[in-house]
Amino acid sequence: MNIDVSSLVVEYRNGSYTTRPLDDFSLKATSGELVLLLGPSGCGKTTLLSSLAGILRPTSGSIRVGDTEVTALTGKALERYRQETVGVVFQSFNLIPSLSALENVDTPMLAAGMGARKARDRARSLLAQVALEDRERHRPGDLSGGEQQRVAIARALAHDPPLILADEPTAHLDHVQVDGVLRLLRGLARPGRTVLVSTHDSRIVPLADRVIDLAPKVRRRNGAAKSTELSRGQVLFEQGSVGQEIYLVEAGKIEVVRGGDVLASYGPGEYFGELGPLLGFPRAATARATRRSVVHALSVAEFKRRIGSKRPGDLVRPLR
Ligand SMILES: Nc1ncnc2c1ncn2[C@@H]1O[C@H](COP(=O)(O)OP(=O)(O)O)[C@@H](O)[C@H]1O
Ligand SMILES: [Mg+2]
Repeated sequence: MNIDVSSLVVEYRNGSYTTRPLDDFSLKATSGELVLLLGPSGCGKTTLLSSLAGILRPTSGSIRVGDTEVTALTGKALERYRQETVGVVFQSFNLIPSLSALENVDTPMLAAGMGARKARDRARSLLAQVALEDRERHRPGDLSGGEQQRVAIARALAHDPPLILADEPTAHLDHVQVDGVLRLLRGLARPGRTVLVSTHDSRIVPLADRVIDLAPKVRRRNGAAKSTELSRGQVLFEQGSVGQEIYLVEAGKIEVVRGGDVLASYGPGEYFGELGPLLGFPRAATARATRRSVVHALSVAEFKRRIGSKRPGDLVRPLR
């Protein structure tokens, strides 16, 4: 299935402020490809996949999957698209805990009106495809994370969809399990089917036919220096992420927000990034551009060099 996303904009309005994780975003993928959407937390991976899945209606732009304009679908046609055209695999598996592996896989087929025996047979063969034929009767709680994700993949394949969307499918898995899940996803990309996988883990890159970098754009100057361009509403880093850098605003305006409250805003010449990176803590708030902005990323060591004898706390305000 060919995918053509063009000039996509998704905007979230939260009271007084707007986040725009996707701003004039375009992407083309062809049948048989495995496409990797790469970028840190908050860059819009889930937003993009939800738009492709027909779960989220974008603010503007177009999403074509085969001959279908997804943004134009409504009612029954949209329901059918979600059910038959896309198979979705989530970070957190989303299996039903009280049902066996087999029941988790046959449920969507029964819901779509398939006869019980046919659904069961198909569920069996799908579980065999993900090498779980000996786990049919296990409940999710009795399976490892990797096995649960394979059940979720089998479920996503219920209607043999031409488009598979996997949102950070390996985020909750350990090393050994990641491998099996990735190999499975790789195998699903074949003529007639396209697989999109989002991840913040760049180790997955070698697996992909095509890599789309959703991270804010970084320009390198003079080797080490990095500046990042942000469009209006774009997120630079998100609360809870672990950041190694402190930023200097070159142009524009950056707001630091938590729970809908603006904690601080920074203009040209100002540093931000809180004390988290200095102390190795996760970010306590989200930073996003309120207009087109350019920021300069500094390592803690560079930052300390620049400010010389001044105390970091004098320049980088801690966020309460
Ligand atoms: N329903 C929502 N309402 C408001 N903001 C949202 C919503 N969903 C996501 N966002 C914001 O949009 C940005 C992108 O989020 P998301 O697509 O989940 O990124 P990712 O999956 O790459 O971590 C983040 O800043 C996030 O906080
Ligand atoms: Mg996400």
